[in-house]
Amino acid sequence: MNVNGRAYRTIWPAGDGWSVEIIDQTRFPHVFETVNLKTVEDAAVAIRDMLVRGAPLIGVTAAYGMALAMHREASDAALAKAYDTLVVTRPTAINLKWALDEMAKTLQPLRASDRRSAAYRRAAEIADEDVEINKAIGRNGFEIIKAIAAKKKPGERINILTHCNAGWLATVDWGTATAPIYTAHDAGLPIHVWVDETRPRNQGASLTAWELLHHGVPHTVIPDNTGGHLMQHGLVDMAIVGTDRTTAQGDVCNKIGTYLKALAAHDNGVPFYVALPSPTIDFRVVDGVKEIPIEQRSGSEVSQMTGRTRDGRIETVEIVPEGSPVANYAFDVTPARYVTGLITERGVIAANRAAIAKAFPERAG
Ligand code: MRU
Repeated sequence: MNVNGRAYRTIWPAGDGWSVEIIDQTRFPHVFETVNLKTVEDAAVAIRDMLVRGAPLIGVTAAYGMALAMHREASDAALAKAYDTLVVTRPTAINLKWALDEMAKTLQPLRASDRRSAAYRRAAEIADEDVEINKAIGRNGFEIIKAIAAKKKPGERINILTHCNAGWLATVDWGTATAPIYTAHDAGLPIHVWVDETRPRNQGASLTAWELLHHGVPHTVIPDNTGGHLMQHGLVDMAIVGTDRTTAQGDVCNKIGTYLKALAAHDNGVPFYVALPSPTIDFRVVDGVKEIPIEQRSGSEVSQMTGRTRDGRIETVEIVPEGSPVANYAFDVTPARYVTGLITERGVIAANRAAIAKAFPERAG
């Protein structure tokens, strides 16, 4: 996507031919800064500390992390160590393990001398595949938005609610939940997006809003607890969210608070769609509520807020009384029964075991 007239992806090989550039998402929305990753440890820190985040981008960063490890040393021991270092960086997004398994499958059978170039090649392919998947999700989701538009008066705005950031910053390009939005907007449909701020890390307010603003998509940032009210008053035509892991039966794990939006959508008859790239399906898991590990992050993400002061300084302040305990569950699970449909690269499918297995038979096994 374009930032100040220049086309960017979220991750790319640096000019030196071996290190890797990322956009530091912890500095958004006030500072746009890139960071150079030189080692597998740099990649692990970038994922753990959320310089990169969003399930697909976490996976691609891990893939490049393996390539950085192979650049330093391509032995079996180095390969295993790189895998082990990266796989524990974040527990919930399954794209991380998926990408690492893809890299291991490619590299393990090779001689050490062939691994370096193969690692960079496969990481680049995974990045390119992500872009193609997201474009296809955009085309498929666009059909749903067109159908909603067809029932409205000409020019009447189409209100789409989204949670967290499943935009181009969460992927290599285009985003998942935002791909249909960008596609519809670029085609001239009058799209307006309700952007959940997404406490505690504010991915909606600081990332999704920034993206939409730069692309010129009309949007409004709302506190997380506003969506239900908007739905009751007919102000939301559909919700589209992303996912960090979707189970074989279609349960959807996504940023904390997604479940509450799905409940409100269900109560108000608002279609609730999940944009799902196939690497995010975990066929080993069936009951998402019971089986998906939910990341718990530092309490400081809840007890503190960071922002820009009027005179331009970036400051962090405490917003909880000193001594009050806080809890920080990063994700929740929306059971499949509340999901209207899964927007995948192979079409819009029902959130159930048969439909998912039929769409992705080579993965379902
Ligand atoms: O903790 P984050 O910011 O990595 O969480 C991101 C989300 O929950 C996204 O909605 C999800 O990864 C899908 S991104 C296409």
